[in-house]
Amino acid sequence: MSYRETLEIRELTSADEQQAIDAHQTMLADDFEFLPTWTQHEAWEDYIYRMNAGRRGEHIPPGWVRSALFAAFDQGGELVGRVSVRYELNDSLLQYGGHIGYGVLPEFRRRGVAVQLCQFALRQVRDAGVKQALLTCDSTNVGSQTTIKKCGGVLDAEFPVLESSDGTSSLRFWIPTVAKD
Ligand SMILES: CC(C)(COP(=O)(O)OP(=O)(O)OC[C@H]1O[C@@H](n2cnc3c(N)ncnc32)[C@H](O)[C@@H]1OP(=O)(O)O)[C@@H](O)C(=O)NCCC(=O)NCCS
Repeated sequence: MSYRETLEIRELTSADEQQAIDAHQTMLADDFEFLPTWTQHEAWEDYIYRMNAGRRGEHIPPGWVRSALFAAFDQGGELVGRVSVRYELNDSLLQYGGHIGYGVLPEFRRRGVAVQLCQFALRQVRDAGVKQALLTCDSTNVGSQTTIKKCGGVLDAEFPVLESSDGTSSLRFWIPTVAKD
């Protein structure tokens, strides 16, 4: 079953704590941080306050940019994925990370969730005045590359990943954000 058009995409709330932490633990197997910068030492309320303040451009640590975290839920209320949106770029995000980063829980993959999250994030950055969104992914990540291309991504450059021993490279794509309704 495809999830196109049926997902609720929103910021995390108090009620999402258990599902979100479970998702974080699950996705560590993919070496992916479902809850960026969260550690088990941080109270959930503090974390969601920090994330939501970040979207408003408040309490941003030095060297960081305005950013937000959105989660996707299916019609049964199951958490299926998340997307991080960076409304600006800094030197580090220009090299790796870009404007948008998404992850989908294993049992919900191959049903269009990542494409839907990416399209949502493209509208977010467009509304913040970004005309071309930068997305990066590893050359070995076929799912992410396909997602980016389906969302209109155009390959700009390929860089070696310095810490890689197997020849993995990092791909950099730009996506025009106009007409993303
Ligand atoms: C990469 C990832 C986000 C894809 O999520 P998803 O919800 O399964 O992606 P979608 O269902 O929207 O698929 C988009 C396209 O990619 C294709 N695709 C997805 N995963 C694929 C895979 N493992 N191999 C080949 N194609 C794949 C889909 O078939 C679809 O193309 P199609 O419509 O032509 O069939 C997901 O596998 C994931 O969370 N991986 C771990 C975290 C990660 O890598 N995040 C991205 C960091 S850059």
